[in-house]
Amino acid sequence: MCGIVGYVGNRQSLEVLIGGLRRLEYRGYDSAGVAVIGEDGRLSTHKKAGKLNVLTEELATSPIADGATGIGHTRWATHGGPTDGNAHPHLGDDGKLALIHNGIIENFAVLKEELLAEGYTFSSETDTEVAAVMLGREYRSAGDLTEAFRRLVGRLHGAFTLLAVHQDQPGVVVGARRNSPLVLGLGDGENFLGSDVAAFVEHTRRAVAIGQDQIVTIRPDSIEVTDFQGNPVETEPFEIAWDASAAEKGGWSSFMAKEISEEPEAIANTLRGRLVDGAVQLPELDGVGEVLADADRVLILACGTAAYAGTLGKYALEKWAGLPVDVELSHEFRYRDPVIGKKTVVVSISQSGETMDTLMAVKYAREQGATTLSICNTQGATIARESHAALYTHAGPEVAVASTKAFVAQVTALYLLALHLAAARGTLTPDQIRENLDELAGIPDKLRTVLEAGPEIRELARGMSDTRSVLFLGRHVGYPIALEGALKLKELAYIHAEGFAAGELKHGPIALIEPGQRVFVIVPSPRVSTSLHPKVVSNIQEIRARGAHVIAIAEQGDVAVLPFAEDVLRIPLAAPLFEPLLAVAPLQIFAMELAAAKGLDVDQPRNLAKSVTVE
Ligand code: F6R
Repeated sequence: MCGIVGYVGNRQSLEVLIGGLRRLEYRGYDSAGVAVIGEDGRLSTHKKAGKLNVLTEELATSPIADGATGIGHTRWATHGGPTDGNAHPHLGDDGKLALIHNGIIENFAVLKEELLAEGYTFSSETDTEVAAVMLGREYRSAGDLTEAFRRLVGRLHGAFTLLAVHQDQPGVVVGARRNSPLVLGLGDGENFLGSDVAAFVEHTRRAVAIGQDQIVTIRPDSIEVTDFQGNPVETEPFEIAWDASAAEKGGWSSFMAKEISEEPEAIANTLRGRLVDGAVQLPELDGVGEVLADADRVLILACGTAAYAGTLGKYALEKWAGLPVDVELSHEFRYRDPVIGKKTVVVSISQSGETMDTLMAVKYAREQGATTLSICNTQGATIARESHAALYTHAGPEVAVASTKAFVAQVTALYLLALHLAAARGTLTPDQIRENLDELAGIPDKLRTVLEAGPEIRELARGMSDTRSVLFLGRHVGYPIALEGALKLKELAYIHAEGFAAGELKHGPIALIEPGQRVFVIVPSPRVSTSLHPKVVSNIQEIRARGAHVIAIAEQGDVAVLPFAEDVLRIPLAAPLFEPLLAVAPLQIFAMELAAAKGLDVDQPRNLAKSVTVE
């Protein structure tokens, strides 16, 4: 959702800006634009609706004067449609200043009235243009872009990352952020700003996360960070843990295909260094260790795929650590009156670490006195910094908009947390912990064998490319996997898909079953003593009797499903809580292959954004 790049240094900025915007494409956008202070000392902009190629073609046919100071933007439409006019950058009234923005300025209508009354005019429907015109007005009296920013941000409500350049101050880019991400890249004789490190990782791996309510001014040889009042802020540079090649397709047909193939590695990397002598080591949680050991309830907050990972976390925390756990969609949480006790630990889950719904929920929980712990994949992310403690997944950059490898890494991190708490609370013996950790450590190899079935799943998907509706059934840990399978299919292939708890079927959804209805069923292991297996097999028989076409995801050697399923996708043997880490990949691959068979862009599905930075 909206990508932002800023550059100041010693080379022509257009190439840096366009390269950065390309790496931010995964965030999702529908128009793009750049503004550069050319060597002739004048500010030029170009902006176009559509993909980045439309902009680069326009720049090729009508070039602008390049120069060493510039900003670039990909816009995901909120205020006003995805048109050339609404695309960023927006200019101040004298055309000397250009501004780009991610987020929503909630009080823009009031500010616009104020500016209209002063005689200013507007050419777009955006909240951003209001900020640009206001910044231009402040610049005229302040004579300095950083000071003008300070005056502007004091007037804005809502969420924003803003970046601007002014032609009277070449060699300077100023940014500000509130509730929306901004990261600084430290170069040699050049500096960068970006929505995330992908914007500049090609050029430098040293970065600084700009904090809440801070303003940053970059010049080729210096950086300055202050709070909104102008007080200097100490910066803490960090090393970006992956290089630019990690975010390349590397011969795969799509980022999603590559990212699914990286799932075993994502799990292994999330475990790396955290399993020591059969125990879990999570030193990053030391600061909240006592609270965790003494917690009487866990509340998991997340959205979408991350929330389904959260449901698996609930099952693990309840089973291993004996704690009551609730999972809530972040956007529902703070709009009722949630009861948060002193001993409630709030665990938020977010791949991007920037999801506004989750960020706001975490802040609210913190205000209510909860201890907050975040599970994030993106270093330096806002949610991680707003939490008392952060547990990073190490899935590597996830570029495809729909989440795949981040999901398995999130589940892995939650299981580590559950086993860590089980040890701290004495709810499992050291041997039981070791046994579960051994099982977890063995998952990457088992998952590799699941991924080998890719061609078989592709064939299955191709045969269903005209399907209009698919249902997914699961029980216990299979239930969140059914929900995730349905979400993936909706997102990628634009097919109506629903996930149900298999036991719920007879309470209503069975009415949907008609001859030919495709139904995926995640079948639990038959080896477990209190097995759900016979019950799920009965569910399969019920829908088969009504003409459903069943695709079972079942453990190797489970023959009971054979008479009732048209297709069976096999997963290796694993203890029940670990089955989801194996069962999800076939559903991800199925959705991806079906979308590809329909000729759809699996990496950037329509209407979706990778990082949902508005509420
Ligand atoms: C689905 C998907 C979304 C995200 C959700 C939360 O494929 O990607 O449902 O899981 O928007 O995003 P994060 O994890 O970045 O908070």
